[in-house]
Amino acid sequence: MKQLGAAIIGCGSIHPLHALSVSELEDVTLRLLVDRDRNKAEAAASEYGGEAADDYLAILEREDIDVVHLCTPHHEHAGMAVELLKAGKHVVTEKPLAAGIEAAERMVQAADHSKGQLGVVLQNRYNESSQTIYRIIESGELGRLVGMKGIVTWHRNEGYYAKGGWRGKWATEGGGVLINQAIHTLDLLQWFGGPVEAVRGSVTTDVLDGVIEVEDTAHAHFRFASGATAILYATNAYAVNSPVELEIVFEQGTLHQRRDCLYLSRDGRETLLCEPPLAITGAKSYWGTGHRLMIRDFYAHVREGKKFWLDGTEGIKSLRLVKQVYEASRTAHIK
Ligand SMILES: NC(=O)c1ccc[n+]([C@@H]2O[C@H](COP(=O)([O-])OP(=O)(O)OC[C@H]3O[C@@H](n4cnc5c(N)ncnc54)[C@H](O)[C@@H]3O)[C@@H](O)[C@H]2O)c1
Repeated sequence: MKQLGAAIIGCGSIHPLHALSVSELEDVTLRLLVDRDRNKAEAAASEYGGEAADDYLAILEREDIDVVHLCTPHHEHAGMAVELLKAGKHVVTEKPLAAGIEAAERMVQAADHSKGQLGVVLQNRYNESSQTIYRIIESGELGRLVGMKGIVTWHRNEGYYAKGGWRGKWATEGGGVLINQAIHTLDLLQWFGGPVEAVRGSVTTDVLDGVIEVEDTAHAHFRFASGATAILYATNAYAVNSPVELEIVFEQGTLHQRRDCLYLSRDGRETLLCEPPLAITGAKSYWGTGHRLMIRDFYAHVREGKKFWLDGTEGIKSLRLVKQVYEASRTAHIK
């Protein structure tokens, strides 16, 4: 079997998870680590193997690179993905798909015209708890889905926003807690709930005003075409990073995700359905452990020439909802 060649662009905080996930795949070789800060690229190359480069365009000339991982800031995803897809490379990009909708749409179009595939890292869909919730909704075993609640309370301080210079700005991050931290939970809510018919919400900068342009706190209400509803509360202004909480209410029972465990409450009894796996090295626990599963699955689809499910069309859904909450918040303030 031919070895597939991989490259990673962006050797900042998330790249170790990509490098480690690739290193677990016997039929894939990590060939190039790119960062515009050459020192970072070289440090990553010496840690994980492969060559170092400071300009991603070098990849376009490389026939030995099949798959490219985008671990760069949000506003860099679209330009890179479009060029790489045009050159026939497969691209797996970190969330969010892009900083804005137009850029994300360009990525989706480029993927439609490429022999390469576009995958989006929304790794929480691979959590056993997420898969279990989805299966229970699909099976109808607890009756109709009535409502959902998602709570994301994390801590991001001034020091976090100072790193890299791209965070905390509309032009480069594309938003705050919603687009960067809560997008995983928002993505799960829309995956579970199906098409969304109405979005309301409000965003504020409660603690980091004067430090960041974007919101550190958000709440939103979603009404699904099915009639179900969901609420989301997200903040980066909490004292610590708490596990995400989810509540999924059905006609005949309720699922609770607490401390990364999933419980079913039904007929006055509570049953543990799943516990979290141990985190792999390089992963902060609140990022979850889905990266290695998602990346393995992406390569399997590439290898077998099958369409990968978490593609641009899927990845743009949560991004659209993020932007709709911003719009709802903006117009609510005008009224
Ligand atoms: N899936 C998750 O749970 C998760 C967790 C953390 C971060 N992320 C995502 O990963 C991406 C990167 O985040 P991060 O925290 O690692 O950021 P970071 O700032 O730590 O790293 C980004 C790196 O990209 C490099 N870079 C920027 N522009 C470049 C360019 N034009 N060419 C080459 N290199 C360039 C920077 O020098 C930096 O080293 C973001 O999309 C973020 O949302 C996802």
